[in-house]
Amino acid sequence: MRRALGTVAVALTLIGSTPLPAQDDATEREVERYRQMLKGDPWSNPGLLDADRGEALWKERRGPKNASLEQCDLGKGPGKVEGAFAELPRYFRDADRVMDLETRLVWCLERLQGFARADIIKRPYSKANQAGSELEALATYVANKSNGLKFAPQLEHPKAREALAVGEALFFRRQGPMDFSCSTCHAESGKRIRLQGLPFLGKPEAARKVIGEWPAYRVSQGTVMTMQHRIADCYWQMRLPLIDYGSPVTVALTMFLVNQAKGGDISAPQIKR
Ligand code: HEC
Repeated sequence: MRRALGTVAVALTLIGSTPLPAQDDATEREVERYRQMLKGDPWSNPGLLDADRGEALWKERRGPKNASLEQCDLGKGPGKVEGAFAELPRYFRDADRVMDLETRLVWCLERLQGFARADIIKRPYSKANQAGSELEALATYVANKSNGLKFAPQLEHPKAREALAVGEALFFRRQGPMDFSCSTCHAESGKRIRLQGLPFLGKPEAARKVIGEWPAYRVSQGTVMTMQHRIADCYWQMRLPLIDYGSPVTVALTMFLVNQAKGGDISAPQIKR
């Protein structure tokens, strides 16, 4: 009941939120000031600890095969981490499907190190105030190695273009008990739920500003959060069942978001509220 009321409140907030009244502008300015203070000293970003931990995990010989991930092919050839994230998701011939960063990491953990998939994805997302999971740390490390680059989606393969088309359709598809689509919350400027700005992800200028910030360190959670987790959380907000880790749905949506953000800077892990 409480949750239902909460959802009604969300829906009402959405209806009433554009354009923002002057008082809301002041609030938004203060929230922005808080974000800038967090970003002011990049070395105070706790997400970098996860990037470091991810690098150590990448290089450590582990798993039944006692191998490191240094031969993992993230799309630019075995062992090449620099710049790989800027071109993900992409089509991988060995898997004959499109994979995003996290799906590919699971693939390498299975194939190179011999871990069982069920064990790898047992705890894919950390909860509030837990240390980041191994997958989160690895994803943060790899994404961080594309910092300063721009998203360059690889759409030559038909399956990559198909993922993009599916992602776009999913973004606008209304579904679930609330009949929400992603675009219900993310296809207008100036929308906000409580203190959280809702970026207009349907608009490339807005997508370019935020998509390259993920994986991000979330102050409210005290942990890093990956794009798969972000999308899973938004689906949860739409009252849909928890989506499978590495589902083609999250991969397709990520392809759509990255294509929207094409040419946008990567600055992961960024700090989010
Ligand atoms: C009920 C409203 C709602 C719906 C529907 C929704 N989201 Fe969100 N989304 C949010 C909120 C709220 C945030 C910000 C959370 C925060 O700041 O902690 C957010 C944040 C995001 C972000 C991060 C933006 C940033 O600032 O970096 C992405 C990406 C995103 N959503 C994608 C999606 C996708 C893809 C879908 C559809 C599967 C979707 N959202 C559906 C409410 C929604």
